[in-house]
Amino acid sequence: MKSILMTTLRNKDSSLEEFRSAAMRLGSTLAHNTLSEFTKKEISVITPLGETTGYCFDEPVMLMPILRAGLVLLPPFLTIFPHARVGIIGLKRNETTAIADMYYENLPELTPDENVIILDPMLATGGSALKALHLLEEKGVNPSKIKMVCMIASTEGLKTVKSQFPQLDLIVAQEDLELTKEKFIYPGLGDFGDRFFGTEYTY
Ligand code: PRP
Ligand code: URA
Repeated sequence: MKSILMTTLRNKDSSLEEFRSAAMRLGSTLAHNTLSEFTKKEISVITPLGETTGYCFDEPVMLMPILRAGLVLLPPFLTIFPHARVGIIGLKRNETTAIADMYYENLPELTPDENVIILDPMLATGGSALKALHLLEEKGVNPSKIKMVCMIASTEGLKTVKSQFPQLDLIVAQEDLELTKEKFIYPGLGDFGDRFFGTEYTY
């Protein structure tokens, strides 16, 4: 997707304000796209003038942002899924090995029919996504009820995740073909968390 928003995110010269604004706007689009993937319930509704039919979506949903970059997707997803519960996990990639370590976990009790939407703007090697998915598997979540939303995912990472979780619904704005030797997505956008939160990273 060669959109204006994706171009602003990729551009190394985008200011903090420009990067944030593009990320939040793309987050809203992804939230709308994600809702459109669910089957809605048909209901009747009374307007001030009469009766008609429409749709509602009130199935149980847990939003699962992966700290820290996943936090960026939480506000737009809460707008579109206002009844969702939120389960948070914290994962941080080691800068040398690129292997993610889990440092925080706080999930609500999950029902067997729970829909889970994992939120993380970046999927590089797929290691962080797999940690989140294995945790949900341990908690008894049905893999066919899980969606994962990303802004950019690498071809290799998508393949790795899909090979272990073929039923997972991946909603991805942009697929990039390569990873650098440091396991950054190429051409990508750099370190999403550092760029959104204004912390440092030297490339
Ligand atoms: C980034 C990103 C993903 C992960 C993707 O987080 O938000 O969670 O890397 O890489 P992977 O697919 O190779 O696991 P990071 O570990 O940099 O933490 P941050 O969100 O705190 O910046
Ligand atoms: N995390 C990021 O923020 N960017 C990458 O390219 C890879 C992991």
